[in-house]
Amino acid sequence: MTAETTKVLIVGATGYIGGSILAEILHSPGFASPCASALIRRPEQAAALETLGVKPIQFKGLDDLDACRDAASYHDVVINAASASHDRSAKALIEGLSLRRQNTGKDVFMIHTSGTSILGDHPYTGTPQTHKIWSDMTNEVFQMEITHPERYGQRVTDVTVVETGQKLGVKTFIVVPPTIYGEGSGPFATLSQQIPNLARFARKLGSAAVIESGQGIWNHVHISDLSRFYVLLLRAVLEQPPWLPSGPKAIFFVESGEHTWKQVSQGIAHAMHKQNLLATTQVESVGLHEAATHITAGNENLVEITLASNARARADFARSKLGWSTSRGDEDFLNHFEAEIASMEEEFKE
Ligand SMILES: NC(=O)c1ccc[n+]([C@@H]2O[C@H](COP(=O)([O-])OP(=O)(O)OC[C@H]3O[C@@H](n4cnc5c(N)ncnc54)[C@H](OP(=O)(O)O)[C@@H]3O)[C@@H](O)[C@H]2O)c1
Repeated sequence: MTAETTKVLIVGATGYIGGSILAEILHSPGFASPCASALIRRPEQAAALETLGVKPIQFKGLDDLDACRDAASYHDVVINAASASHDRSAKALIEGLSLRRQNTGKDVFMIHTSGTSILGDHPYTGTPQTHKIWSDMTNEVFQMEITHPERYGQRVTDVTVVETGQKLGVKTFIVVPPTIYGEGSGPFATLSQQIPNLARFARKLGSAAVIESGQGIWNHVHISDLSRFYVLLLRAVLEQPPWLPSGPKAIFFVESGEHTWKQVSQGIAHAMHKQNLLATTQVESVGLHEAATHITAGNENLVEITLASNARARADFARSKLGWSTSRGDEDFLNHFEAEIASMEEEFKE
């Protein structure tokens, strides 16, 4: 299958990750823009996508399963970057791809976006797993997901993606990003999630906050490096080299280093103080209950997994097989906070 003729559907193209993937595809040699479509729910976003040469397909949202299935059935590849925890739409997209395979007799592929919170431990309400570092080549990530005692939406969705793909003959690939930083390059949303969420919380509190001790360790990746990974993966998916796994063995990490949550809070404190958004560079420790009240609508489990846990992985497949690398290291992440806070300027004026 060639990049020129492959029909690619992006779900979540108006978002931070999906928009940046779209931009990267459009800038990559060999991908003709009429081959890309985007499933969108807001009609006012259609014109901007058409200007880029992308075909907008209107739907009511991810719960509109018939529309998801139908749109996918006209495409060879679906890149899903809308929701890591909406299992029903992920399943419907794969069902649509399998119809495409029946109609064309050609292979079809689903590239789904998850997140490293699937690895997250419970350092404050359970047993910390500070030293566990997952490899996407030597550890059985899917086995962990399928046997995990705790029901968590992103793991449930990953399992649904793999099992539906296996059942219907659709090759699946799951990308598992950690904390993503940097300005997105898509046509609409350009802000990430975790650091902006903690910055909003700091603004409410009047000082930067760290949840509990902040000793939990996560990985990070710049959005440009992540988007590059998706396009390298997309090329490999289309070429199908013998070393490319799919299904349960194709759950891939992308990272350029590690940070603690305390380092994140300190970075936010200094950047917001410098930009006169906080009166102090002090970082205040808050409990799970208070953090959850402000950030995750009271869900303490979710705030612990997504903003206080240990979730450590190595992008072994990206580096050793896909030829992915980055010159950005931990210093780049630790020095990026001023830019990230500056990009929230409009929001903080309100
Ligand atoms: N950012 C990170 O650091 C990070 C890291 C790892 C994993 N993830 C996961 O990756 C996914 C995408 O993240 P993101 O940062 O790109 O989020 P985002 O900027 O909010 O983008 C989400 C995209 O999905 C669409 N979408 C969301 N819910 C929808 C629904 N119910 N119906 C139709 N469209 C829907 C949005 O459409 P609209 O424009 O119409 O809202 C948008 O295009 C999330 O599940 C997130 O948890 C994010």
